[in-house]
Amino acid sequence: MSRVIDEHRLYLSDRNRLCAYERALAEVVRPGDVVVDLASGTGILGMLACRAGAARVYAIEMDGIAGLARELARANRFGDRLVVVKEHSTAATLPERADVLVSDQIGRFGLEASIVELVADARARLLKPDARLIPCAVELVVAPVRHPRLFRRIEFWSRRPAGFDYEPARGIAANTGYPARLSADHLLGPASPLLTIDLTKDAPDTLTEQASMTIAETGCLHGIGGWFSARLSPSVTVTNSPLARDRIRRRQVFLPVDRAVTVSAGDVVDVRMQLRPAELMYAWDVTVRRDSGPPVRFRHSTFAGMLLDPADLRRTAPGYRPRLTPRGVARLTVLSLCDGVRTLSDIEAEVQGRHPELFASRGDAAAFVAEVVTRYSSDAD
Ligand SMILES: C[S@@+](CC[C@H](N)C(=O)[O-])C[C@H]1O[C@@H](n2cnc3c(N)ncnc32)[C@H](O)[C@@H]1O
Repeated sequence: MSRVIDEHRLYLSDRNRLCAYERALAEVVRPGDVVVDLASGTGILGMLACRAGAARVYAIEMDGIAGLARELARANRFGDRLVVVKEHSTAATLPERADVLVSDQIGRFGLEASIVELVADARARLLKPDARLIPCAVELVVAPVRHPRLFRRIEFWSRRPAGFDYEPARGIAANTGYPARLSADHLLGPASPLLTIDLTKDAPDTLTEQASMTIAETGCLHGIGGWFSARLSPSVTVTNSPLARDRIRRRQVFLPVDRAVTVSAGDVVDVRMQLRPAELMYAWDVTVRRDSGPPVRFRHSTFAGMLLDPADLRRTAPGYRPRLTPRGVARLTVLSLCDGVRTLSDIEAEVQGRHPELFASRGDAAAFVAEVVTRYSSDAD
């Protein structure tokens, strides 16, 4: 069962988010503008752009929901102005460059949905040089957090599930960012802005910033909370800050420290973060400076939280000489048969005939061919 449609119901039922985007589009879009709605889903931001006066909108969506977006555009009488392009945005080409880009690929902590990379690519290939961006900047904010319930996800691995030693998994768990529903009660002190990513410019490969936060009340520090505030237009921002009354309905992140630390009012928590947008990776070094003892230091990185098999790592070395697996060869067969002449049915029969060891039935071959063809074929002449 697909839950995609219900996910979009949630996006569409977030009134603060939609109001913010509607206000920003009304402020930024000028009559006659060409707009790109990047990662459009149902095309809601593109339709808002039409309503704000756009002459044309290119709604770029890589998944099957592109079909529904087309139908919705027609149903709302934007069929002649909103063109749905079913493609990954980095592979999409458009017949003209756009004046405005709108997108909500901000994630929970500004990076996970690849906004930096996707907007940089769109600026280079799809937009006019002076195009206006919605959002144009994303600020990341951090705060010292107590969250015993989420911290149990790290401690779990020290509790010998079924009597076995699972301690090696603890390090992976402690180097993972967790989606969190934070509230003011989780914060041990005031939040602090960490850095602002200017989407109108190319970002460096690595962004490094630090913030110092003073503890306001005694408690147990379990980690760092993170969220964003995105500038949509000169007068509109959106945020998922747990402290904002008009926040959008989106969770924040919890970045744990390896061991819980008792802190008191006046202690200081320094966070140094390194973000690598292209790899969607971040590292967080945390130093807790306390009156009651020497500083406590932690070093964490989502790289250390990845489940990397050394055999897979070897395959990324520049000197590695790859060989196709039998399924790789079968994929090559499918691609070579997509010549604009053979039908899908011809290709299925041929693939099953050439690879009987992989596909016991015509149905097995059909499923395999469908997966390749939907991804790599087009109707273009
Ligand atoms: C968060 S959802 C939809 C958001 C939509 N703009 C809205 O405001 O409701 C993101 C959608 O973007 C699509 N998507 C993500 N990255 C994309 C990319 N680089 N190119 C095209 N589509 C993308 C996903 O398939 C998904 O349907």
